[in-house]
Parts: sequence; structure tokens; C-alpha cells
Amino acid sequence: MQAVFNWEVKFGVNIKTKESNIMPINQLVEFCAGSINKDGKCIDCEHNCSNNCNICLQECHFGSPRGYDCNNMIYCYTCSYSYKYASEIGHLFYNLGFNRFRQFNILNLGCGSCADLFGVDRYLSIVGTQRPISYVGVDNNERWLETHNQIQTIFPQYNIEFINSDIFDFLDNITDDDMLEYNFVILQYILNEFNLHCRERIDEFIEKFTHKIIDKLPEKSIVITNDINHNDVRSISARIFNQSQINNLTSQFLYRFPHQPLHDYGGENHPFDNLMFDVPEVIEGRFDIKKPCSSAQSVIFKTRNR
Ligand SMILES: C[S@@+](CC[C@H](N)C(=O)[O-])C[C@H]1O[C@@H](n2cnc3c(N)ncnc32)[C@H](O)[C@@H]1O
Ligand SMILES: [Zn+2]
Ligand SMILES: [Zn+2]
Repeated sequence: MQAVFNWEVKFGVNIKTKESNIMPINQLVEFCAGSINKDGKCIDCEHNCSNNCNICLQECHFGSPRGYDCNNMIYCYTCSYSYKYASEIGHLFYNLGFNRFRQFNILNLGCGSCADLFGVDRYLSIVGTQRPISYVGVDNNERWLETHNQIQTIFPQYNIEFINSDIFDFLDNITDDDMLEYNFVILQYILNEFNLHCRERIDEFIEKFTHKIIDKLPEKSIVITNDINHNDVRSISARIFNQSQINNLTSQFLYRFPHQPLHDYGGENHPFDNLMFDVPEVIEGRFDIKKPCSSAQSVIFKTRNR
């Protein structure tokens, strides 16, 4: 089990409950861990990896043209990365006091296994409240299908929809007449994907994302980017904010996590960088559980259209 979770200290209660194995994220991770089908190397995949696809994932994250092209790889991704990514969103929601929103209508572009949804759900359980959640996740990788079905089963109380589409096609299909009802739009670890794999389309993405999404969001809505703390990626978030100001009254707040190497990005530090979940020992022993939280976050508040 992990070191004492700092929220316990903050609230003076032991929230590391016996329910940890029924935490929604652990239900998903157990499903994914049980779905891995390897006999040394992957059975249906040309790559020769024997270690839960960690090497495959690192190749993808450090610029190999290879995408998430193996089911074992995506299951391993969820087991290793989702505690960290979900915690990053959980810390952000807690620190920004997003419980003033009566409901969360979330759009996530490049949703993968929806770490953000698990982070929002964890945040709600930590502050001891509930909110109606609707969640639309857009992803073009069909390999997520079983994971997405499982997420819908885990959260019957939420209204979750998945759209199997390329993000650019999804944006192109939004017409001038469409009004969007999302109050949260989340780009989580997708800008780095663009930076690595389709840099030539980043200008197009910024333009379309701003005009097809931000311009159409209702008053008092939020656009979050949560991604690696790297200048290339930070600068995409900065350009989205600049572009958003053309047709909207917006303001931007930047956050990062403590204990990260010094750099001149700026932004406010969150107080904690630990995982907000209990990771079962069997999962901790089997996977390379990523921690601590280390992302750079941009939060754009849209007050209203100009
Ligand atoms: C690094 S993963 C991040 C997943 C998830 N947002 C998270 O935080 O764990 C990137 C995801 O973006 C998806 N993706 C990449 N390019 C895409 C595109 N052009 N259209 C739709 N999805 C895309 C991939 O399939 C993958 O699920
Ligand atoms: Zn494989
Ligand atoms: Zn592999």
C-alpha cells in the first residue's frame, strides 16, 4: 500500500478505506490487467516485448511513429498511467473548488481510458458530494472499445458516451449553428501526441479547437489542458488561450506540481503531488505505476463571448 495519503492529514480522517479494491479506478485496472493476453511476448503482435509492454509504451511516448497498436499495450497503459493522470485532475478540481458547478458536462478529446473521469469522481468522493456527470469521450482508436464498455458499467450513475472519431473530423463536423452545452472541455495528454506525431497540424488544431469549441461553449465554462511539463506542449496551451481571446472573454491560470525540476514556465504549485488512490499491492507489484503527479496544467475560464 502507498504512503499515507495527504488528504487524510488534511481532513483528519482515514480515507484510505477498506473499499479501496472497489474504487472505480481499481475496478477498471483489474479489468485491464485481466485482459492482458501474453505468453512472454504478445500473441497477436509483431513486437517482441515481455514486460507488460512498458517498453512499447515508452517508445510511443518518446516519438516512435508506432501508435497504440496492440491491445496489451493499451491495457498496460491504463494500469500504469491512469492513477497518475487521474490524480492530476483530482488535485486540480480540489484546488480550484469546482464543486460550485452543479453538474459536470465534460467533453474529452483523445479520451483513451478516461483518467480524467476517474479523477473527477475521486474528487467528488473526497469532498463527500455527488454531481450529475455527462461525459463525451472522443478517440479514434477502436482498441479502447472493451475498456469504454467497462467504464460505462463501472459508472452506471453517469451519462457516458463515446465517439469513435478522429479529433479533426469531430471538429469539422461541428457546424456554425451548433451550440455546445459542455461546461468542461479536457485535453489530457493529447497535445503531446500531436507534438510528437502530427506537428504539422497543430496550427490547424488550435484554430479549429478555438472556433469550433471554445467560441461555442456556454458562459462560465472551463477548458483544461493537462499534459507533460514540456515547453513545446505548454506553448500549445498558451496559443490556445491567445486564440480564445479573439471571440471570448477568457482568463488563464497555470498549475504545476511540487518537486519538479526548476524551469521558467511559471504557474502556481499544487500543494501535493501524490496519487489520490490506493493502488492494490498486486497491481503495484505487477505494473510500473507512474507517480508522482508531474504535469503542467492550463485552465482557461471562459466568462462569455465578446
Ligand atoms: C497519450 S493517450 C491519452 C489518453 C487519455 N487522454 C489519458 O489521459 O490517459 C492519447 C490518446 O489520444 C488518442 N488520439 C491520438 N490522436 C488522435 C486523433 N487524431 N483523434 C482521436 N484520438 C486520438 C489515442 O488513441 C490515445 O487514446
Ligand atoms: Zn504487443
Ligand atoms: Zn508490447
